[in-house]
Amino acid sequence: MQNLKSKKDEKARNNILLDKRLTCKDNIFIFIYISKNMEFDKVVQERHSVRNYSDKKVNLKDVVKIMDVGRLGPAAGNVHTLKFIVVEDKDKKEEVAHAAHEQHFIEKASYIIVVCSDTKQMIRSYGERGKMYAKYQAGAAIENMLLKTVDLGLGSCWIGAFDEEDIKKILKIPDEIDIEALLPIGYSASKKVERPRVQLHTIVHKGTFNKSRSFGKVSLGTSKTE
Ligand SMILES: Cc1cc2nc3c(=O)[nH]c(=O)nc-3n(C[C@H](O)[C@H](O)[C@H](O)COP(=O)(O)O)c2cc1C
Repeated sequence: MQNLKSKKDEKARNNILLDKRLTCKDNIFIFIYISKNMEFDKVVQERHSVRNYSDKKVNLKDVVKIMDVGRLGPAAGNVHTLKFIVVEDKDKKEEVAHAAHEQHFIEKASYIIVVCSDTKQMIRSYGERGKMYAKYQAGAAIENMLLKTVDLGLGSCWIGAFDEEDIKKILKIPDEIDIEALLPIGYSASKKVERPRVQLHTIVHKGTFNKSRSFGKVSLGTSKTE
């Protein structure tokens, strides 16, 4: 995950790989290297859907940071199709919640980010397949954004159930733009609810589908995300 650019970084990486004797400086670098990866794992493990928001107002700067990591997701052919609408107005949030099949918990969040795609742009490059690609990259961006929300100590929930036409009317979104998801952004007012997680060994195959699930000495059953 680390961007190892300098020669010193490269040397430190080689030391990790070759298990050579390390200098003090390299040890410090490796400590940072390892702890950064551990932070990433923690953010992934901590992410969960928040459906109860406190009244504490989220700083708009944090919302901007969340959208900024959405922009950094992978994009087919580097064709960027995402658009974001930030909804703060109380009445508008209520209307959006109503259009999201009465999911009224979202109107309690400080902001709702409406994630949209300009799918036509992708169709111009990839034809019919472009429709899929626009959805895929919206999903990648959404996950980035959900993880950043956790990183900032905030909560969110991927909302995919809504009446698209109604939301387009409320927010004056042009017909040709697709709405991918609603992301309420707020401070959680509840403790994390632990949900059952799929076990890695039940979804992994080695070589060919449904054949060996064995990875030899490498265990598939010790992941903290189980
Ligand atoms: C495509 C998609 C659509 C979703 N739509 C909704 C939704 O409309 N309302 C909701 O409360 N949660 C929605 N979720 C969140 C899931 O219910 C949630 O991710 C799942 O229950 C696992 O819980 P976790 O997010 O806490 O890990 C959606 C998730 C995805 C990926």
